[in-house]
Amino acid sequence: MTLTVGVDVGGTKVLAGVVTPEGEVLATVRRPTPSQDVNDTARVIAEVVRELDEDYAIEAVGVGAAGWIDASRSVVLHAPNLAWRREPLRDRIQERVDLPVVVENDANAAAWAEYRFGAGRDQHHLLLITVGTGIGGGAVVNGEVYRGEFGMAAEFGHVRVVPDGHPCGCGASGCFEQYASGKALVRFAKERARDDRTGARTLLEMAGGDVDAIDGPMVTRAAQAGDTVSLASFSELGDWLGWGMADLVSAWDPRCIILGGGVAEAGDLLSIPARETYAKVTALRGRTEAAEVRMAALGNKAGLVGAADLARIR
Ligand code: BGC
Ligand code: NA
Ligand code: ZN
Repeated sequence: MTLTVGVDVGGTKVLAGVVTPEGEVLATVRRPTPSQDVNDTARVIAEVVRELDEDYAIEAVGVGAAGWIDASRSVVLHAPNLAWRREPLRDRIQERVDLPVVVENDANAAAWAEYRFGAGRDQHHLLLITVGTGIGGGAVVNGEVYRGEFGMAAEFGHVRVVPDGHPCGCGASGCFEQYASGKALVRFAKERARDDRTGARTLLEMAGGDVDAIDGPMVTRAAQAGDTVSLASFSELGDWLGWGMADLVSAWDPRCIILGGGVAEAGDLLSIPARETYAKVTALRGRTEAAEVRMAALGNKAGLVGAADLARIR
């Protein structure tokens, strides 16, 4: 049995795991993402790989990185929510581990995992949107990850949806990521809590009364407890996602569109408003069949499972 390691490198954590050819995860290791030093990130990735390699016979390493990967799949050109700028990530890891390394965009890796082992197992054309710190996108077309000419296909988070809108970590403004990500959810909740302290009572209790201390997990917990400001923030987020999914379906015509990422783990809180808006606003409504919306099945392991599988078939 060939075992490979997948490493998901996101804005807050590095999550690595040993994965079987069937997509089963045998062991995981987790570390915080070093905040600013890019060399530190490569060092941490190499460390977790070596740790897993002590107990398992590993054949290759796949890294799913939260940024724009070049067509040679070795350089992170830009990472809107991390410090990478033209970072030769594959070489930096390769210097430190004695195994073949492949680098892939984190959301592409997650889309691949959902296609192989998760919510898209029965389909050959699918899209995935990951809702986390940022918005990730992945497309599987004819059973292959679609990367485009320059490696940058399916960067759904940086499709611009509001002219002169909220500034984005990519350097532009008005990007979808600024309206439909976990960061956006927190911004919506803060804005609403400032205007409506009564509706935000539960949320503000969790934040010790301080609007600025509100974070994403608090908004989820408060919404689950019925906090009206938190619920409204989820509806606002779901609405943006519904519009975004409808537009993506018009452009790509997939069989299904999968919602994943940390924020999607809030389940109905997000999926109900997102599906409602999607059904209501799709331009294709009633004239043709259109993609169904599914929730991701692999949770926070999708990125590492997909990266590991892509390393196996490299
Ligand atoms: C980046 C993507 C990444 C996504 C999720 C976005 O800001 O542009 O490359 O996949 O965040 O991590
Ligand atoms: Na992508
Ligand atoms: Zn952007």
